[in-house]
Amino acid sequence: MNTNVIVAVFTIAVTAIIWFGTTRNDASWTGNRNVCVGECYETWKSENGGSIADIERTKQDLLAAASPEALGEKYYGQCIACHGGNGEGGIGPMLAGQTVAVITDKLTGYRAGEARGAQSALMWPVAKAMSDSDIANIAAYVGTL
Ligand code: HEC
Repeated sequence: MNTNVIVAVFTIAVTAIIWFGTTRNDASWTGNRNVCVGECYETWKSENGGSIADIERTKQDLLAAASPEALGEKYYGQCIACHGGNGEGGIGPMLAGQTVAVITDKLTGYRAGEARGAQSALMWPVAKAMSDSDIANIAAYVGTL
C-alpha cells in the first residue's frame, strides 16, 4: 500500500463516521444535554426559591445586612489553628480580652510588615490578605471574645 491509498482510506473512513453521526442524530432524545431551559429551569426555580439572579441578590442582601461581628466570625475560621476557637491563644498569643482598637492597630501593623514579637513573620502573610473592612470585622468579632 502506498501513502495515497492510506490517505484515501483514512479520508473515506472519517467521512463515513461523520456522515453516520449526523444522519443518525436522534432529535427526540431527551437525555442530559447539559442544558436546563424552559420547563426544566422553571422547575429548578420553584425548587430553589427563584432565578439565579434572585438567589444571588438575596445572598448579597444578606451579606450586606450581616453585622461586622458575624462577618468577622466567619473570617476568624482562618485564625483558630493558631489563636484558638475562643481567642485563648496557642501558637499565637491570646486575643480574647483585647479591645477592638488594639486588634485593629496590631493587624494594620502586621499588614504593613511591621515586626512586633519574635514570630511576626507568621502574621505577615495572614494580615497581607486582609482588606480594611476585613480588619474592622475581625476586630469587631475578636472584641466580643
Ligand atoms: C500560623 C499561625 C497563625 C495564624 C493562622 C494566625 N496567627 Fe495571628 N499570630 C500568630 C503568632 C505566632 C503571633 C505572634 C506574632 C509576633 O511575634 O509578633 C500572632 C499575633 C497576632 C496578633 C497580635 C496579638 C498580640 O497580642 O500581640 C493578632 C491581633 C493576630 N495574630 C490576629 C490574627 C488573626 C485575626 C488571624 C486570622 C485571620 C491570625 N492571627 C492568624 C500566629 C498566627
